[in-house]
Amino acid sequence: MAQQYRITLLPGDGIGSEIMAVAVEVLKAVGKKFDLQFEFQEALIGGAAIDATGEPLPAASLDMCRHSDAVLLAAIGGYKWDTLPSHLRPEAGLLGLRAGLELFANLRPAQILPQLIDSSTLKPEVVEGVDIMVVRELTGGIYFGKPKGIFETETGEKRGVNTMAYTESEIDRIGTVAFETARKRRGKLCSVDKANVLEVSQLWRDRITKLAAKYPDVELSHLYVDNAAMQLVRAPKQFDTIVTGNLFGDILSDAAAMLTGSIGMLPSASLGASGPGVFEPVHGSAPDIAGQDKANPLAQVLSAAMMLRYGLNQPAAADHIEKAVLAVLERGDRTGDIMSPGMNLLGCQAMGKGLLKTLEEI
Ligand code: IPM
Ligand code: MG
Repeated sequence: MAQQYRITLLPGDGIGSEIMAVAVEVLKAVGKKFDLQFEFQEALIGGAAIDATGEPLPAASLDMCRHSDAVLLAAIGGYKWDTLPSHLRPEAGLLGLRAGLELFANLRPAQILPQLIDSSTLKPEVVEGVDIMVVRELTGGIYFGKPKGIFETETGEKRGVNTMAYTESEIDRIGTVAFETARKRRGKLCSVDKANVLEVSQLWRDRITKLAAKYPDVELSHLYVDNAAMQLVRAPKQFDTIVTGNLFGDILSDAAAMLTGSIGMLPSASLGASGPGVFEPVHGSAPDIAGQDKANPLAQVLSAAMMLRYGLNQPAAADHIEKAVLAVLERGDRTGDIMSPGMNLLGCQAMGKGLLKTLEEI
């Protein structure tokens, strides 16, 4: 009998529904090939949820996610909701989902595909062979630390406050994921902090260093975040696995993404200690091209592959999707964001169709 999975789809805003439609077709196709049966259920998040219910993450959506085997998310946000107070913005929906499912570990791979080497703004010899995994802490740090808010001081002046805080156990659990990840890759882990200035980073460095004793096969190094940002664009090949806190990981993962030429290619996985993970592209909702059939669906499709690999333990089906993506790029199919001279410019739907055909052929 086919293995059954209940998948919650969160298309969100902007290009979300266009790229999600492609990923769903791809999942159905690999499902047939690998005897997996997906039951898809859709829920609201972000701006779409605000418009329909007044809240960026309705309780019904979180509940549906909790009762599924994995969650596939597209993207949230748009100009329309940018002026709302922070707890009612689409981003609050995403943060609520991460917190609600306790998804403390965010895996963001940035791998240069030989077919796209010319899409990078960096010189080919700098980026050729880059293969980095950013392990970002996702439910702590300055995103969630308290106190937070905008308060009035005694003089009547306003003061904005956020707090960067990590407990030992929060550092240990993300550190463990990072060491385990590095062990399965090239055995190198770089921990990024700001321990020359921040106490929270001193504790971070201390705990990560202690954990290293359990992983003698992993070579650990430490960098300050400013230096890490510089090294990422100067000599990115020195990195294998990077572990860092929520805010530094947000920033460095965008920088790492751009090494590959297009943020439109990169998937991510957000995982907890148990329960369903959330799999989503690193890119945003691209409201400027929404509804125009121009979006690159490949990061969404690769997120579905990560879902199969890390969420559902179906590595063969994941491999098959990743192989098909490489094959369509190999024959020159491109969306606008990764277009280069001599290649075939396709829209989102045509890219999806090509991918489906390739899934059958390979
Ligand atoms: C990301 C995004 C989010 C973040 C936003 C949309 C809340 O930038 O996933 O990197 O800051 O974590
Ligand atoms: Mg970000």
